[in-house]
Amino acid sequence: MPVLLKQIIPLGRTLREYELMFALTEADRTKKILGCGDGPASFNAEWTARGGSVISIDPIYEFSGAQIKERFDAVINDIIADVEATQDRWVWEFQQTPQGLRQNRVAAMDRFLADYEAGKRAGRYQVAELPTLPFQDGAFDLALCSHLLLLYSHLLSLDFHVQAVQELCRVAQEVRVFPLLDLVGNKSEHLDPLRIALEQEGIETVIEQVPYEFQQGGNQMLRAVRNYETAGQIT
Ligand SMILES: C[S@@+](CC[C@H](N)C(=O)[O-])C[C@H]1O[C@@H](n2cnc3c(N)ncnc32)[C@H](O)[C@@H]1O
Repeated sequence: MPVLLKQIIPLGRTLREYELMFALTEADRTKKILGCGDGPASFNAEWTARGGSVISIDPIYEFSGAQIKERFDAVINDIIADVEATQDRWVWEFQQTPQGLRQNRVAAMDRFLADYEAGKRAGRYQVAELPTLPFQDGAFDLALCSHLLLLYSHLLSLDFHVQAVQELCRVAQEVRVFPLLDLVGNKSEHLDPLRIALEQEGIETVIEQVPYEFQQGGNQMLRAVRNYETAGQIT
């Protein structure tokens, strides 16, 4: 499905946010990582600069850096104003203030843009989208999906989620998804049925607390791993 940039809010997070959201450890540093729906996050740029291995996929990578930045500039003021008007719905430990949030998002965008063209040439930013990915089985050790699955539960169906996580588990040994809340801050309606459907497909999931919370109560990630012993045996 072609992506229209007008439908997308291209906000990106930093490496520090990815580290906290996904409880990344020393052991993760040597893993081959897929960043799924990374958009203009600076995770890829910063992780690569530290010597890490990461490929980011996103449909917005069909657009130029200037086009992505133009869209960001068009929406950032309204987003910060919305957050300012609803400050008690958010946890300010990391972002500190709405202006701190803006600075973090601008810093991520700037870092992403500085890396984008070179990263595209190196194959680190690839145009692709769930629920079908252009990678071989087991191409990655770890797939990270931030602020896409579960968050947009009103737009993406349960079937889409099941197919998407199965696909991520096909290309990566382990999948982590954050947050588990939808856009209005409720537990995603898809979370429980998704876990049941995945279990029936031989994919084990666990919910883990992580040291990052911006949406109130949004401090958990889903970890999913295909269990090759039970896969296909559950009816
Ligand atoms: C809210 S942004 C999150 C960006 C980044 N993951 C972060 O947390 O900073 C959601 C991203 O998902 C991307 N996206 C939308 N549909 C997608 C799909 N079907 N497969 C992969 N990415 C998708 C959007 O283009 C957008 O860049």
